[in-house]
This record gives sequence, C-alpha cells and structure tokens, in this order.
Amino acid sequence: MSDQTLLSLNNLTLSYGKNTVVDRLNLEIEKGELIALLGPSGCGKTTTMRAIAGLMTPSGGEIVLDGRDVTRVPPNKREVGLMFQSYALFPHLSVFENVAFGLKLKGMRGSDLSARVGEGLSAVGLGDYADRRPADLSGGQQQRVALARSLVMDPKVLLLDEPLSNLDARLRLEMRTELQRVQKANDLTMVFVTHDQSEALSLADRIVVMKDGAIEQLGTPEDIYNRPESAFVADFVGFENIFTVETGKLKGKGEAFTLPEALPAGAKGLAWRPRFVRLGEGAFSGTVIGAAFVGQMREYVLETPLGQIKVDVDASAPAHSLGQQLAFDLRVEDAVILKR
Ligand SMILES: Nc1ncnc2c1ncn2[C@@H]1O[C@H](COP(=O)(O)OP(=O)(O)O)[C@@H](O)[C@H]1O
Ligand SMILES: [Mg+2]
Repeated sequence: MSDQTLLSLNNLTLSYGKNTVVDRLNLEIEKGELIALLGPSGCGKTTTMRAIAGLMTPSGGEIVLDGRDVTRVPPNKREVGLMFQSYALFPHLSVFENVAFGLKLKGMRGSDLSARVGEGLSAVGLGDYADRRPADLSGGQQQRVALARSLVMDPKVLLLDEPLSNLDARLRLEMRTELQRVQKANDLTMVFVTHDQSEALSLADRIVVMKDGAIEQLGTPEDIYNRPESAFVADFVGFENIFTVETGKLKGKGEAFTLPEALPAGAKGLAWRPRFVRLGEGAFSGTVIGAAFVGQMREYVLETPLGQIKVDVDASAPAHSLGQQLAFDLRVEDAVILKR
C-alpha cells in the first residue's frame, strides 16, 4: 500500500445468496484519482460500488478507507458519496434546499449551511441558480445540482454509477468535461462506473476493465487503448481483427493460418485495429462485402478464409467497390501482442 492510497479493496468478495458476482477483487485507489470501472453489463460494477458505499455486506475480504477498515461500517458513517444514474432531485424544493438536504440532516444550520451550499453550487458553476426549482433547469444543470448535493457532504470518495447514461450525446460530452474539471479543481477521489469505453478513456486517470466480477486489466487510458493484454480487452477497445494463437497458428472466426513471420514468444494472440491492416499488398486476399465512406476514413469489410477482416484506410486512398478482390497483409510489427 503506497502512502497515497485512500481506498483499498482487499480480496473483496460479493455475493447475492449463493451466487458470487465479485470474486477476490484487489484494487488500490490513490487520493485525488479518478478511476473508471469499465465493463459490460452484469460484470459486477454496480455491486462493487454498493459495497464501497456500504449498501451491501461483503461475503469476504475488506474495504479500507483512509486507513480505517470500513467493511462493516454503516453507509452514513463511511464518508462515501454516491451518485446514481437516476439522481432524483426533490421537485418541490429549490436548488438550495436540494443541496442543503443532507447537511441539514447532519444538523448544519444558518450561515454555516448557506456558506457550504454556496460553495457546492459554485463548484459546479450554478452559483446563481439557488432559488430555482429543478423543473426550471436543463437536464445538465439538474445533474450538476445532484453533483453539488454529493460534494457538499465532503465525502472522502465519490462514487458515480453511470451518471451520464441518461443524457443525450451532446450533454454527455459537456458533463464529462464538467465532471473532470470539478474533480481536478477540488482534488476529489472518484470512482466512475461506465460501460462506455470513450467515456472511460477521456475521463479516467486509470481504468479498471472488469469481466465476470474480476479485474481483466488495470492501466492508464493509453495502456488500455494501445496495449490490451487479452482478447476481451482488445475487443472492448475496438480491435476488430483478433486472433488467438493455437498450436503455432492464428485462429479467428475462419480457418487457422500461419503468418510468413514467426510469432513472438509467449504470444497468446495477435490483434489488429482496422487501420493496422495493410490493404492492396500482402499474402492474403479477400472479397469486399462492405464499403463505407465515413469522412476521414473508408471502412471495408473483406470476406476471407480467415474470417471477416475489417480494414480502415485514409479517405484520400482510391475507393474500392463491392465484389472486388483485394490483397491485404497482417504484419506482426503492426499487431498488438496479447499476453493472456
Ligand atoms: N439484487 C440482486 N440480486 C441478485 N443478483 C443480482 C442483484 N443485483 C445484481 N445481481 C447480479 O449480479 C451480477 C452483477 O450485477 P451488477 O453489479 O449490477 O452489474 P453491472 O453494474 O456491471 O451491470 C449480475 O449477474 C446481476 O444479475
Ligand atoms: Mg450497473
């Protein structure tokens, strides 16, 4: 455990009845870090958040927050804030009263209360909106009120479970930037759950990719995007051409094949993003069954004995049409080597 560690999950095991959904998870989060839990639906992200918040008791392992074992501490004694996708504000209360709600429950009153609520609203850029009702705010502003409501409680860790998934695409981008700004400006420690890789990549200091209740890979956005270690992570971050090594050959969805070059020692698989495949040269060939112009790129799908191959080329390259037979190359030097 480093000096900076604020939250440790040690062999955390979480079950619903006999069904274990998170199995001996180990994770250390530093103060001021924004960690994204990324993974498909059902992999255990919400369950992990509920356990950190104290809404469920682990069946094994421990949760240590700021040096204190909180595994069996009730939620209201944990100093953990939680913001879910449905952040329900009280419609009949003003923005001020919504943000003040939790503080009042803790007994705060008068000028202390006004000052703290004011700070919270300024932190999210809503200093002038204290008297409004939620119905008179945009969706993004309502979300910022919910964020202020969590912030004023001064949690040691703020947990956000898919907070942006109810918003339309434009607002989601705006809130992404806003969240990052608030997080860095206030040196907050946040755990952010998402199933959206671009959200995780753009927001997080480190990403935890989860699969079936376990950590599949932990790393910086660059690590996860550029150096996936398994076929699962490669697929999740947009590698379309993924092959596993089976008795010295590569195998995808079609026939197993060998490359002209030797495979790197210890490789469990090789993966190429569509733009890593070389088109118009090489030992392989396929028939164009998909061709799309998408602005900067042309996207092709080739039907080949190896399975379907996706290739992106620069839009300035000459166009090919459906039914055309094209050579292509999969070079080891262009591939990402999967270690697991
Ligand atoms: N209250 C519950 N009772 C029983 N099983 C549950 C409950 N909540 C979630 N699960 C199961 O636990 C697994 C993980 O769920 P969850 O943590 O919600 O996943 P995620 O948030 O990653 O989509 C899933 O298989 C889900 O069906
Ligand atoms: Mg969930």
